[in-house]
Amino acid sequence: MKIVTIVGARPQFVKAAVVSRAIEKYNAAHPADRGIHESIIHTGQHYDENMSDIFFSQMQIPKPKHHLHIGGKSHGAMTGQMVEKIEAVLLQEKPAVLLVYGDTNSTLAGALAASKLHIPIAHVEAGLRSHNMAMPEEINRVLVDRISQWLFCPTRQAVENLMKEGYDGFSSVAIENVGDVMYDAALFYQEISQTSEYIESKIQQGSYYLATIHRQDNTENKTNLETLVKALGHIAAQTKVIFPLHPRTKKYMEQFSIEAPQIDFIDPVGYFDMIGLLRHCAGVFSDSGGLQKEAYFFKKSCIVLRDQTEWTELVSGGYNKLVGAHYDRILTAENEIRIEKPDFSRMPYGNGHAGEKIVQALVDSLET
Ligand code: UD1
Repeated sequence: MKIVTIVGARPQFVKAAVVSRAIEKYNAAHPADRGIHESIIHTGQHYDENMSDIFFSQMQIPKPKHHLHIGGKSHGAMTGQMVEKIEAVLLQEKPAVLLVYGDTNSTLAGALAASKLHIPIAHVEAGLRSHNMAMPEEINRVLVDRISQWLFCPTRQAVENLMKEGYDGFSSVAIENVGDVMYDAALFYQEISQTSEYIESKIQQGSYYLATIHRQDNTENKTNLETLVKALGHIAAQTKVIFPLHPRTKKYMEQFSIEAPQIDFIDPVGYFDMIGLLRHCAGVFSDSGGLQKEAYFFKKSCIVLRDQTEWTELVSGGYNKLVGAHYDRILTAENEIRIEKPDFSRMPYGNGHAGEKIVQALVDSLET
């Protein structure tokens, strides 16, 4: 069975690492003629050493067979060029399945190219919704789900979202709550990860918060970016704030001349350093989809710097605070997480075997 996998942006490397490992495990347990052959396409959406290469080396992700080098472009140019180049690779590879992850432009481009060639699509992280169609990621999610044949959902809520949209009426679609591959990743890699000396020395300096911002709405919008940086700067006067700076955020901070010397801005870090920072931080401030949950995996609260979230169970459960780019709400939430002691023992993200379940579901349905 031949699978082509699309990756391109940072969170996809983490997710693909889990499923590629599950494929290897499956192959080790089966004769070669019943094995799975995976070819990876890297679109090049993220391309720096610390946004891409470090994930492949640390997480031992198989080397991409095809590298498309399409990064640093507008949404339309990026997605369009990816569709064209992915189509050419799919015509050559002729896979039984195209595997896509999450909600990025790489996900959409892969799914579009495959659907026109009638190659069935497996979408990992299906059914998530922020219900904000102004977010490029929400557009990508909704469209990719609609043209996928396997919808691998990370939570019960994600399955319910699909049901509300009428997916139970589509007989050719398989919907399964397999759990979250990012939880698999956190469980597996925290056992083997080593923190770099550079990050370790920062951790040793005492209590700190971990912060990241990269969403379009928080970076390209000057008022939002100024407000967020100002609030984090205020907090940093009391408690250190370590902030791995995404290239998009760096670009707009420079363009808008936004500065905050109180904040410890560092280059983007790899997954192992992220685990180190999460393990020891006092809490997280982020607009990232993945980090909201990773905070939970490491028993930390996350102050979500957005107005909506796909991970609603963490907000309704009282772990995370949804505050948007509002100065006062951010400071209030910071006071609250200092005091509150939520019970992090509930785990709505499966049992750490989402990767194996995905592989088995694909094998089962393609063999019948
Ligand atoms: C993308 C995804 C988002 C995901 C995020 C993770 C879409 C629509 N968004 O947003 O869902 O959560 O990745 O980070 O696909 N750049 C570099 N070096 C790099 C990578 C990017 O300089 O290694 C620059 C790009 O050239 C671009 C900017 O950073 O100017 C933003 O990158 P882009 O891929 O457009 O979107 P992200 O904000 O990373």
